Amino acid sequence: MQTLDLVSNLHETQSRVLAPVATLIGVERTYARGRLAVPALRGVDIELVPGELVALTGPSGCGKSTLLNILAAVDRADGGSVLVSGQDLCTASESQLTLLRRRSIGVVFQDFQLMPNLTAYENVALPLALDGRTDSVRVLELLSRVGLAQRGSHYPSELSGGEQQRVAVARALVHRPELVVADEPTGNLDSASGRHVLDLLMDLRREEGAALVLATHDRMVAARADRELRLLDGRIASPEA
Ligand SMILES: Nc1ncnc2c1ncn2[C@@H]1O[C@H](COP(=O)(O)OP(=O)(O)OP(=O)(O)O)[C@@H](O)[C@H]1O
Ligand SMILES: [Mg+2]
Repeated sequence: MQTLDLVSNLHETQSRVLAPVATLIGVERTYARGRLAVPALRGVDIELVPGELVALTGPSGCGKSTLLNILAAVDRADGGSVLVSGQDLCTASESQLTLLRRRSIGVVFQDFQLMPNLTAYENVALPLALDGRTDSVRVLELLSRVGLAQRGSHYPSELSGGEQQRVAVARALVHRPELVVADEPTGNLDSASGRHVLDLLMDLRREEGAALVLATHDRMVAARADRELRLLDGRIASPEA
């Protein structure tokens, strides 16, 4: 057997034996719009293991953001079960969800969502600060990793879109989350900046061992994932493989 085959088999075996970062079973979410019920998720089963990149695809309105919000513990499912980092999100209290978000989950948004009145350094340090921690070595390491070591004192308005998103990637990983959720992270960027942000997200989740779930409309982005989950009308349309 070739060495590469051995390495790839080892990786597969590791993935199988690693405890999942997230397990979703039969997840449902229905929004109320006036007197109308809008079913956004209709029974979604997913398992995510450490270090993998999963692309979430599907047409507009199929439920991608709804699913990411549930994974990120900012919204709750109405049915089914959601386990993230060993915690049952359906029964967790609000303060348990807050702690989970601070310690175990990183989020990257399409529109960056940096704090405009904080510098790049302060934005990256924010997840640690919210958890009562300071770690300047870690913040500087991440800023340097995303190629912005010299820009720590700059405010978001002084950075390009691609640079702002790289700050957001550093912020999403600074507290060593087990799960990183990214909702169309390259959607507002030109293709070169988008590729750079995706490269960084992919490299960092591998280095840090986090599972990364990324919603995208971009076939090129989806093609680089370890696997693709296609949502159609609130259900997984492709088999989980
Ligand atoms: N707060 C809300 N109130 C009512 N309906 C909502 C709400 N948020 C989402 N929906 C509906 O739920 C469904 C799924 O929406 P969602 O935003 O998850 O789709 P999406 O796959 O992320 O779409 P896009 O690719 O356009 O971002 C849609 O029918 C949408 O209109
Ligand atoms: Mg969306």
